[in-house]
Formats: sequence, C-alpha cells, structure tokens
Amino acid sequence: MTERDENEALRQSLRELLIGEGPAEPPERAEALRTVLEFLDREYYLQAEQVVPDSDYDRLFAELRQLETEHPELLVPDSPTQRVARGLADTSATVTHAVPMLSLENSYNAEDLLEWDRRVRGLSGADEVEYCVEPKFDGSSISLQYRNGLLNRGATRGDGVQGEDISANVQVIGGIPKAAAFDQLGAALAEVRGEVVIDKAFFARMNETREAEGLPRFQNPRNTAAGGLRMKDPAEVAQRGLETFVFHLGYAVNADGEDLLAASDSPFQTHSGNLDHLLNLGFRVPGEAMGLRKGIAGVLAFIREWEQRRDDYRYEIDGMVVKVNSLALQRRCGATAHHPRWAIAYKFKAKQASTRLLRVEYQVGRTGAITPVAKVEPVSLAGVTISSISLHNQDQIAEKDIRIGDLVKVERAGDVIPYIAGVVAEARTGREEEITFPPKCPSCDGPLARAEGEVAVRCTNAECPAQAEERLRHFVSKNAMDIDGLGKDIVGRFYQEKLLRSITDIYKLDYPHIEQMKGWGKKAVTNLQQGVERSKSRPLFRLINALGIRHVGITTAKALTRHVNGLDDLTSLNQDALMQVEDIGPVVARSISEFFANPRNQELLAELEKLGLNTRTLGEEKPGQGVLSGKTVLFTGTLQRLGREQAKEVVERHGGRNMSAVSPNLNILVVGEKAGSKLKKAREIGSIVVMTEDEFLAFTSELR
Ligand code: IVH
Repeated sequence: MTERDENEALRQSLRELLIGEGPAEPPERAEALRTVLEFLDREYYLQAEQVVPDSDYDRLFAELRQLETEHPELLVPDSPTQRVARGLADTSATVTHAVPMLSLENSYNAEDLLEWDRRVRGLSGADEVEYCVEPKFDGSSISLQYRNGLLNRGATRGDGVQGEDISANVQVIGGIPKAAAFDQLGAALAEVRGEVVIDKAFFARMNETREAEGLPRFQNPRNTAAGGLRMKDPAEVAQRGLETFVFHLGYAVNADGEDLLAASDSPFQTHSGNLDHLLNLGFRVPGEAMGLRKGIAGVLAFIREWEQRRDDYRYEIDGMVVKVNSLALQRRCGATAHHPRWAIAYKFKAKQASTRLLRVEYQVGRTGAITPVAKVEPVSLAGVTISSISLHNQDQIAEKDIRIGDLVKVERAGDVIPYIAGVVAEARTGREEEITFPPKCPSCDGPLARAEGEVAVRCTNAECPAQAEERLRHFVSKNAMDIDGLGKDIVGRFYQEKLLRSITDIYKLDYPHIEQMKGWGKKAVTNLQQGVERSKSRPLFRLINALGIRHVGITTAKALTRHVNGLDDLTSLNQDALMQVEDIGPVVARSISEFFANPRNQELLAELEKLGLNTRTLGEEKPGQGVLSGKTVLFTGTLQRLGREQAKEVVERHGGRNMSAVSPNLNILVVGEKAGSKLKKAREIGSIVVMTEDEFLAFTSELR
C-alpha cells in the first residue's frame, strides 16, 4: 500500500470507530482502536496535524482502556494506553540542558520597550546601551553541543530544563556544521542555540506537492519544523527542507572547565562578536536582518523597518529580539528563572484574528473535486485583507464543526494561505447554520459523487467546463509545464474568450489575434510565444505531471520516468508492472493504466507529440539539486556569451529559480554590460551576491 492508500484506510477505520461501527469482537476492536490511536499520535506529533478534536481522541482512548480492563488478556505492552502521555513514546532519550534554555520576555509596543531600556540602563549604570536587534524566528528551538570541535549532541528545547535528544536528526538538517573549530577560540566544549525554520516558498511548494499527491497539507512551517525535528527516520527529516539560524552561544568552556563567556580575556566579549565567530565557524546567523544600534530610538526604527519587510523575508518571523550587546553588561543584568533581563522580544501584530463566516461557496477543481470556500467578513491579518478561505473538504468542516454565522479564528500560515484554525464556540447564539454541500455541480449541474474511502466529493461529468479550465491551469503551472507568460488569470481569460479550450490549443494559439487584444502588446506576446515554445522541450516528468492523472503528482511522475525510456513505454505498462515502481500501489497503478487506456487520452498524447512536445527525453532537470538548488537568480545588462533564454535554462538546469526583479529574496544577480538600476538596488540590499557572466558560468561549470 502507498502512504496515501494506507492513510485513507486508517481514516476510514477512524470514521467507523467514531460512529460505533467497525469490528465488534473485542480482540479485533482493541486492535483497530490501537492502530487508529497510533495513527492519530503520529499525525499529531510527527506531521503536526490534529485529525480529530481532543474529545474524539479521548473517547477512543477511553474505549480502548475500558476494553483492556474488561479483557486483560488483550493488553499489550506497547498499547497507547500504556504510554506516559498522549503519543509521547518514552523511547526517545531525554537530555538535561547544562544551562537551562530560558524563554524571552515579550513586549508589544514602544512603551514596553522604552520601559525595558530604562530598566537595563538602571541595572547597568550606562546612559546609552548598545543593542543587537535580530529577527525572532518562528520555528523550533534547538541546542547544539560541540565537543572538541565535533557536533556531539542535538536537543530540542523541551521544557527548557530537559529536551529530547535529536542527535541523529541534526546530522541531516541544513546549516548545522558537523565540525566547527571551537578550539581555535579556546573552547573544548560549546553550545550553540538557534531556531530550525523552513523557507516559506519551499513550504508552499511542499504543500502543493502533498496536495497533488492526496496527502494532507501541513498547517504552518513552525509545526512542520517541530514535527520534522522529532521524526524517527533521519532520511525523512532530510525531506522537510529544515534550515537552521543560530542566535546565541549558550556556553563555551576550555579544557580546564573555565567559563570563557565570563572571562575578560577570551574572544567572547559581545553578542555580535559571538555571532561573527559562529559565522566564521560555518553557522548561519541572521545576517542582513541583524542590526547593532546605540540607544533605544535606533532599535525602534530598525524594528519598524523589519515589521514592514516581514512578508518579503524568506522565513516566518513573529517579531524582533533586542539583546544587550556587551556580555559583561548582560551579566550585570542577570536573569529570572523564566527569561534573561538583558533580552526582550518585540512581537509583531498577530497573524491570528477572528471574523464572521458569512457563507460558503463551492469551487470545482481539475479532477472535479468540489472545494468549499468560506467567505468571511474581510479581516486584516498582519497587513493582508482576507475574505476567502479554503475549507478543503467536508471532513475538515465536520472535524472543526464549522457553521455559517460562526465567529471563526483565522490564521495565516507560512505559505501565506489563510486557514480556519477553529471556531469560537462560546460566541455561538444557536442561530448558526450547518454547512450543506450542494446536490449538483455548481458549474455544470452534473451529478456529484463521493468515492469510498475518499474525502473529496466530485463532479462526475467529463465535459464539465470548470474542470477543463482547471486542467489547463494545472498544465501550465510551475510544477507542470511551467509556461512563462501564461498565468492562471490569462488562462481564465483565454478560456472565456474561447481561445483556449483544450490542452492542444495551447500550442495552436492565434498570436496575431492576441496581440490585438486589450492589455496585450508585441512584447507580451513574444514572451508568451517563447514560454510556450520552451515548454515543448521540458523533461518528460513535467509532461506526465501536467497531464493531471489522478493520484500522480510530481514525485510519482519522477519515479515513473526513472522506469521508462519515453511516454510510449509508459502507455504499454500494465498494472503489475506499474506497481514495481517505487511508491506506486494498486490505486495509483489503476488510475495510470485507466488514463492511458482511454482513447481520448491516447489521441491527446499523439497530438501533443505531433505538435512537437518532448515525449521521449527524460531530461536532465532535477529541481532541488545542483549548485543553484534553492537559489534565486536574476540577469541584468547585456550578456556576452548567453542569450537570456539560454541563461534562464542554465539556472533551471542547476536547480535554481529565475526571478524577474531585485528584492531581498534574490540570492544572485548576474551582471552583463551596462548594468544599471538593478545592480544599484542589489548593492543597497546588501545580501545579494553579484557575479559577472563569466563568474556565473564558472560557478555552474558551464564555462567551456
Ligand atoms: S534568544 C537566552 N534570539 O524564541 C536567550 N531567541 O520566546 C535565548 N527565538 O526559545 C533566546 N528567534 O527559540 C533568541 N533571535 C532570537 C530568536 C529566539 C527566535 C526563539 C527561541 C526561544 C524563544 C523564546
């Protein structure tokens, strides 16, 4: 069974148990309850997903305990009822932090901060204090211990005194050097603290992929990072895109056990100096997002600047942290049992708000799945107004018991997609209405059906226009054929105007006509035409993904291409052969073979091949790998060796992403001749690496 099939089977079993169905005989029922409770624990702790409300979990748990009391022979040592706490298997080792991992005091406005500065000045006796200001990363805390220059132990924060040992996992997390020459600084033992985070764009892509593969979306980068840190299999941890920023040196002692952080002749005299040391040793520090300011006024200005830039920053941050820079002064300030007095967090405006659920509309996806979308009273969440929120499917509505008229809690996750975290049950008046699904497809009036074991309700009309439009959108999208110049809105407009009705129409567009259309000009049409042309030579996995075969997302598409020499090969594989491909089970195999057996699809493929699309070469592209993996690149000025399109292809070939403008999200700017304002802007931002064309080619080993 694939992960998805298994997941669906477990959810089905869960639904049965919750309504009192499922196996009736005590041994089978106990077994089913154990399996489902373990599944819920796994989702909760490892995937950070709460599948059912606590009350349902507790009910199943109580039923299992009751059964085990009545039938002691059914009790097994690893039953969920025998564990310390919900899901906290006592198998993972606990570590005691040598120096407790304290929390931070919070402040929410300028007054709080001025008051704190007054206290610090009072404690230190200084008129003006130098502060280091840095982002407050919204991820998961981590402690890394180095002994004789080698990464010796990794731990979570836990309750601050004790955490979980995650030494195996830290080996595969980005930004954590396995060796760091602390001995050069005289330290035989040192502890570095930081935050494990996930790049917002990576997080969004990961969720898109999960969705395409029928897996539940992750809620936000923080939970996903926290869950990722504690996964049992480091190979899986490595898939989560975890990265680490460090922001604190916990302790540093020499071979005689002397505390170097307190010694006046050690290299450790200021916080910013410590971060410089850490940077030199190979750690990642907040960099451009960090500022040294004398006096609280400058601190406030820096914080305000970053509150503005917050959404453009690559990682989720929920505030800024202000720290006294001098370690001697820090010691004078001291700490409470809860937090140091030399640091304070300034929290940005919350990303949670409550608003009224007005009505529910229904959207039709490319597979016919009907997605309920909540229309809410517009509410501002950290600077963005939200009025529409996807409710994903019927089960989610039932799980959270969401009703029309409810006051709902809205949150925005790292991928900027808002979601309803829950309802404010206390605010109910009794006049709230249940959400009822429409009996027919809202687009074509076609019949709806819910397949056994599936969460989605689908329109079954093969001719449904909403589905056709969505299929086109999927075909051109980033993970599929990635057609530049043909975005979602343009597909919608072309569809309305009957320029685009089927996938093959993309390759027969009437460009002279488009050029005459409102809002279009020569440049935009050339761009579109080039985008369409470029898509013809995409690697095969992209085409397979673009076809929109049920249950086949980008991962499965890649796995398939590793087993065949071209599309022809694939069409001839039967279900048994398909099941030899990694991660493909009976459900996916059936879906693939049904797709290729359908004469209409065969016609489509033949026509695409005739139109010049690559159906054979598997392609070299391996996103996420190569020297530019995770990096964004922009070209400016006149290039001498490469054409623009060629240059963009080099970026993609090496796992990078092309950008169209200079922003703090840009990593590399490649400058040709006569580079102008873009170069100036990049220099102002400061964090962008500027390369010449030759340097870029050398970097990507394309210089021949
Ligand atoms: S300093 C002794 N700096 O916030 C001071 N913490 O609310 C140690 N955090 O557990 C913390 N960004 O996980 C510090 N730049 C930053 C931070 C930061 C995020 C987290 C950290 C800590 C929590 C306290």
